[in-house]
Amino acid sequence: MDRIDRSWTARIADALELRHFLVPRTPILSPARRRLARALTVADLRKVAARQVPRAVFDYTDGAADEEISLRRTREYLRELTFVPSSLSGLEAVDTSTTLFGAKVAQPFVLAPTGFTRMMHADGETAVVRSARRHGVAYTLSTMGTTSIEQVAAESADAPLWFQLYVSRDRETNADLLRRARAAGYGALLVTVDVPVGGQRLRDARHGFGYPPRLAAGTFLDGLRRPGWTARFLTTPPLSFASLGGSTKDLGAHMAHLFDPTMTIADLQWLRQEWDGPFVVKGVQSVADAVRYAEAGVDGIILSNHGGRQLDRSPTPVALLPEVVDAVGSRLTVGVDSGFLSGADIAAALALGADFVMLGRAYLYGLMAGGELGVDRALEILSAELVRTMKLLGVGAVDDLTPAHVRVPGTEAAARAPFRATRPRPGEHRPGGAQARRTASLR
Ligand code: FNR
Repeated sequence: MDRIDRSWTARIADALELRHFLVPRTPILSPARRRLARALTVADLRKVAARQVPRAVFDYTDGAADEEISLRRTREYLRELTFVPSSLSGLEAVDTSTTLFGAKVAQPFVLAPTGFTRMMHADGETAVVRSARRHGVAYTLSTMGTTSIEQVAAESADAPLWFQLYVSRDRETNADLLRRARAAGYGALLVTVDVPVGGQRLRDARHGFGYPPRLAAGTFLDGLRRPGWTARFLTTPPLSFASLGGSTKDLGAHMAHLFDPTMTIADLQWLRQEWDGPFVVKGVQSVADAVRYAEAGVDGIILSNHGGRQLDRSPTPVALLPEVVDAVGSRLTVGVDSGFLSGADIAAALALGADFVMLGRAYLYGLMAGGELGVDRALEILSAELVRTMKLLGVGAVDDLTPAHVRVPGTEAAARAPFRATRPRPGEHRPGGAQARRTASLR
């Protein structure tokens, strides 16, 4: 009996020792903040988003064209990339900052232009640009933005802002948008070239989603189960393309004029004269086109299949990187987008030669999940993942990521070219950063 008692006392003493490990979490009282804090990845934010907005809104954002083959392949390709780390590299801190078109940014990723952003959350572009500013990230406003050029600029303070143009059939509309964007301080112009016609988005068609957006009976009922979204939607100004003027009922008319299918590279020359800053073509999908745009004198290109929302079965943008960078990387800034959901995805594309990565859905999931706080959470997750990946790779700066850090499916290049051989020996001078990435070949 005495022996048993002593053992119980000892056990209780042991248990009491455990209290040092039981650090109570500070309770998060706001349900919205709690939901966001529990999301550890962008994929988690996507799940939260699906519970916050009506199905039709979620599907407009999440969906892609036709059978969604382009988007699926692009995401699968990114996941197939293998990292090749270097251990004991003596790094304590890493620097994710870079310079894009002369502007210093804290992150090598840029927020992509997206239309109808206030449909995902009533705070729309305002929420996104405020969060981008806090994180030192560049933001691109779409021609189809639901907050005006001037309002977004007013929220950006001196954070880098880019403007995306859908070239309208009406030249005066284009010239006016460019004048306003320049006057409001937008740095780079992105001209989107992969929309001669809208892609076939089957999820939207099945929800009866059109232009102007109509609330089908099902969407309305679904809205009742999403009271937060619905209350904000009904109590804030109706959706419109804020930079183009007009009201919700004009959305359809604007859509009919926004994409000019007769446009040629010669028209780019005309636009180029209207814009005296960095001029970037978004939606390049082949090496041949990359070379044509380089010859036309643009400053940058973005390899993109529009997040799989246009041509289905289109090339996987990140897979084009090595060849495109070989062909035009010494002349142009090369960005890439479509399918990027994590800091590891971003690091892999930088290693393959991209100067920056654009993100669309990754921040929109955050926006739908929790407005401005949700975008903050998405940017926090992505930048923490990027830092961790760089540390695990043994890379201290964005420009030090090289093709030797990634093995592409179907090649054994990295295995053949040992990592150390790609790094300068002490005292050896090599061209730095992006230039080094470009000259390092996968072959
Ligand atoms: C887009 N995208 C887009 N692109 C553009 O040039 N102008 C636009 O107005 C829009 N609108 C838009 C809306 C939504 C809901 C999405 C998801 C995308 C394409 C966007 O800029 C970018 O190319 C893709 O989003 C990149 O793919 P991920 O990151 O979404 O996979």
